[in-house]
Amino acid sequence: LIVPVILSGGSGTRLWPMSRPELPKQFLALTADETMLQLTARRTDAGEHFAAPIVVANAMHVDQIEAQLAEAGTAPASIILEPMGRNTAPAIALAALAAEDPTAPLLVMPSDHVIADVAAFHEAIHRALPLVEDGWLVTFGIEPDAPETGYGYIQVGEPLVEGVHRVARFVEKPPRDVAEAMVASGDHAWNGGIFLFRADKFLDALSVHNPDMLHAVQQSIEKAKREGVRVWPEHDAFAESPSDSIDYAVMEKADRVAVVPVAMGWSDVGSWDALHAISDRDEGGNVCRGDVVAIDTRGCLVRGDGRRVALVGVEDLIVVASGDDVLILPRGRSQEVKKLLDAMKN
Ligand code: GDD
Ligand code: MG
Repeated sequence: LIVPVILSGGSGTRLWPMSRPELPKQFLALTADETMLQLTARRTDAGEHFAAPIVVANAMHVDQIEAQLAEAGTAPASIILEPMGRNTAPAIALAALAAEDPTAPLLVMPSDHVIADVAAFHEAIHRALPLVEDGWLVTFGIEPDAPETGYGYIQVGEPLVEGVHRVARFVEKPPRDVAEAMVASGDHAWNGGIFLFRADKFLDALSVHNPDMLHAVQQSIEKAKREGVRVWPEHDAFAESPSDSIDYAVMEKADRVAVVPVAMGWSDVGSWDALHAISDRDEGGNVCRGDVVAIDTRGCLVRGDGRRVALVGVEDLIVVASGDDVLILPRGRSQEVKKLLDAMKN
């Protein structure tokens, strides 16, 4: 069985005011009635192919995680609660060390992505499995449609088996001009941030490329406190781990890395504009959720979040009310939410 590993450590700032440090994106219902975490968990329901998931999360979110998984009908194998965020490489190492069978394939998934075509996702997983069993580290490649600088890029190399290719090069978060060249080249994919590999093979790669990280994480899990499915890695040992993402710490450096190109309606919902683009729209091109009254309104994304929001005669706006805050900006500028947050800090 494949062991799903759900990463839920992000702090979520780009979807402010709905996402906040205490309630990041994965805990929000953005595209459906279920939250991103719930949709992720249900994408690999335990059964014929998948074991119960290992969830790796920030300790401060333990109650939300348990409540949301219970509501989705998912019984996790364990919930590993990090005392602090050390980015994705240590988080995945925790899961790999916690896996009961070290040779089990781990399917590492962010908790905050959309995959519209789950059947295509499953098909891609099964295409890659024989190589995974043979020790390859596998990533999922998304056809790029813009020179995004917030993604990793994969140069797709020679085919290894039908529909799975060697990674010629892995470039995490390139500068703009490099990203433009890679998109134009036609032989690059975005890294979807989803990985499939045997737990032991990931740990082998980590021991080669980042032995200090592996050591710190090992110590923290050996001294972990356990209570039912909850696992608390020991604080001081985990704090010793360098902070780095799997992309920089392992994928850019490892050999025997493969990519499965897949068209599965993937989005990391990285902004309000992205959410508008992937959501079902009404006749006016609006995406409204909550108590929204809109007259003669076109191309807007409007979220009431418990309050009534009423609009007349506006176009292409993003209006999001949440808690005490209201965000209003023209569509196309939602990347600037980050600037707003910086301005509010000062
Ligand atoms: N448990 C845990 N602990 N999870 C974490 C941590 C952590 O310290 N840091 C991040 N995560 C989770 C996030 O919640 C998210 O679900 C996932 O790991 C990926 O982290 P991000 O911080 O969102 O990464 P990114 O978006 O900058 O980049 C990654 O994803 C891109 C696609 O969305 C990379 O893999 C890129 O190469 C990729 O293109
Ligand atoms: Mg992300």
